[in-house]
Amino acid sequence: MFEHLNTLPQDPILGLMKSFREDSRTDKVDLGVGVYRDEAGHTPIMAAVQSAQQRLLETEATKAYIGPAGAEGFNHLISQLILGAGHPALNDQRVNTVQTPGGCGALRMAAEFLRLCKPDATVWVSTPTWANHIPLLGGAGLTIREYPYLDTATLSVDFDAMMAALELADAGDVVLLHGCCHNPSGADLSPDQWTAVTDLIERKGLLPFIDIAYQGLGEGLDQDAHGVRLMAERLPEVIVASSCSKNFGLYRERTGALMLIAANAQQGRAATSQLLSAIRSHYSMPPAHGAAVVELILDTPALTQAWHHELDAMCRRIIELRSAFSEALAPAGDFSFIERQRGMFSFLGINPQQVKILRDEFGIYMLDSSRINIAGLSANTLSRVAHALQEVLGR
Ligand code: LMR
Repeated sequence: MFEHLNTLPQDPILGLMKSFREDSRTDKVDLGVGVYRDEAGHTPIMAAVQSAQQRLLETEATKAYIGPAGAEGFNHLISQLILGAGHPALNDQRVNTVQTPGGCGALRMAAEFLRLCKPDATVWVSTPTWANHIPLLGGAGLTIREYPYLDTATLSVDFDAMMAALELADAGDVVLLHGCCHNPSGADLSPDQWTAVTDLIERKGLLPFIDIAYQGLGEGLDQDAHGVRLMAERLPEVIVASSCSKNFGLYRERTGALMLIAANAQQGRAATSQLLSAIRSHYSMPPAHGAAVVELILDTPALTQAWHHELDAMCRRIIELRSAFSEALAPAGDFSFIERQRGMFSFLGINPQQVKILRDEFGIYMLDSSRINIAGLSANTLSRVAHALQEVLGR
């Protein structure tokens, strides 16, 4: 049975993580996988998460099953976090949220749900997009089409090209958007651009599918959710996949949510019943621990405050690193776009050969596309990376 199988190449992001781990150089720098790092290069457990875990350890009384939708309390609180308490879609009972195994679980179950709604559904994804979007959505049998997103000369959003491509979409097509902190480019839509995309989607009868995996790490929790909140208010149907990996630092606990926003409560109930049936036949139920931690944090004012404080410090640190890095790169060229972009990622705009030199000769790891994780820099490594890049560009 297995003898015909070929060995596949490694996933580009996870493969790079492995190569970095196996590199014995002590001054190596990891700008690859998107995890937050502190000045010492560690990915700490957030203090609010530590406290919540401690409390859970003392109080948790059972490990019995919860159910395919996960914890009701988590689903309620995460919906409020994303949409903002008192959002009209919440008040009108149009929002149905289920807990999922990470953001990937949310994306894949959204794709399975879309296939149930419309077996020949087409999803438009940005070029570029996160490397795992296409396997996650295409793997569920959806047709993928691409819309241009990034002007590679300026590394900013090519909004005219994006809008022109989306004009070609047919009614009922799905448009995948990054809620904030576009992965891999760091180039986000402005509030005016969100309004224009919402107008286009409304006029053409498209379905927005928003992946928001970095809420709180771009500008702040509310600012980063602007696009989701706008679309949820103005459009009859919206799908939102979210993740607690980055903003709660719960990467390995696989904690995420999938929100179906329907035209009315009755349609929402029917849609959710379909989604729950799909979940039951895929993984049955999501893991409980991470969601229990998030629920406790969001349900306990002192923990919520501590978490806000820590997340805000992480967000400010990334913004400061962006300024310092683009300044350090000034002798090598105009990298001011890094300062203007948001979230963990930016492209350096160098070619794969230059990326390889940085890895082989300097121990600086980034994706072949030249995507770097800004949070992987520190005051210590920043100038070394800037000098190495300057040297490679000067060759
Ligand atoms: C990334 O883009 O590096 C992260 O979202 C981690 C992953 O799973 O790819």
